[in-house]
Amino acid sequence: MEYPEFKGRTAIATGAASGMALLFLQKMAKEGANVVLVDVNAEAVEAAAEAIRQDGGSAIGVQADIRKYDQIEHAVNLALEKYGRIDYLMNSAGGNSQRVCKQSGGFLNASPESIEWGVDVNLKGAILFVRAVLGKMFEQNYGVIINMGSVDGVTGAMGLDYTASKCGMIGLSKGIANYGASHGVRSVCISPGPVLTRPAMANMKTLLGRAAEPREVVDLIMYVCSDKGSFITGCNYMIDGGRSCAMGNFL
Ligand SMILES: NC(=O)c1ccc[n+]([C@@H]2O[C@H](COP(=O)([O-])OP(=O)(O)OC[C@H]3O[C@@H](n4cnc5c(N)ncnc54)[C@H](O)[C@@H]3O)[C@@H](O)[C@H]2O)c1
Repeated sequence: MEYPEFKGRTAIATGAASGMALLFLQKMAKEGANVVLVDVNAEAVEAAAEAIRQDGGSAIGVQADIRKYDQIEHAVNLALEKYGRIDYLMNSAGGNSQRVCKQSGGFLNASPESIEWGVDVNLKGAILFVRAVLGKMFEQNYGVIINMGSVDGVTGAMGLDYTASKCGMIGLSKGIANYGASHGVRSVCISPGPVLTRPAMANMKTLLGRAAEPREVVDLIMYVCSDKGSFITGCNYMIDGGRSCAMGNFL
């Protein structure tokens, strides 16, 4: 085991039926942590939790739409009933509203509903989730909250609601860092460039000439959560293959 300190602790993640959140919880379970998968997709989240259990891990899957506080509270209560504590939260549910809500023609053609989805899932849901777990973390005097941003939250190079929300995740992480430091809580924003959670991401340029494998991002998250990352809080990690550094000029 790479991180023995995770054994017996509890990690919860949103958007955990797929992508980087699922990989994070799979790795946490391998390290002996109890894991709670939260996703709006009921079937997929239960199947993912069952696969972790089949692999010898301790996991529960909970369906919740993070736009609704009562559903978040339900997920957190189930986690606490089963495991008694919450040590790590990864706010990962999200995505580009143009893609998810099947919009085309840019911002001026975006439906108000798609913009609402973009802000509500990418930012509001994360803030609501923090509201639901932070009290327990303060009581434990321990916790780490990872908020998934994006290179676009720094460069502004994607749909307006997406870039605004992902920029907001940096502010959220700084706010938690300030509020939580004296209660043993750290928080960090992780801002990836293209990650191969879907094949289309291979088309986005980076200085390194490729998109990231999901594990390259999740390895950083594991490090930040671990005791090795104990002095890290309130910052934003760019993990983008140099995409932001190139500022659009790929030679
Ligand atoms: N993949 C990339 O290239 C990339 C790059 C930069 C940032 N990010 C960000 O990283 C995060 C994870 O990306 P990914 O590609 O691993 O994820 P993904 O697209 O594989 O999974 C997103 C998950 O969120 C869930 N979800 C959607 N709406 C929800 C809601 N209302 N409530 C609960 N769950 C909901 C979906 O069902 C899905 O399982 C996202 O926030 C994304 O914006 C991804």
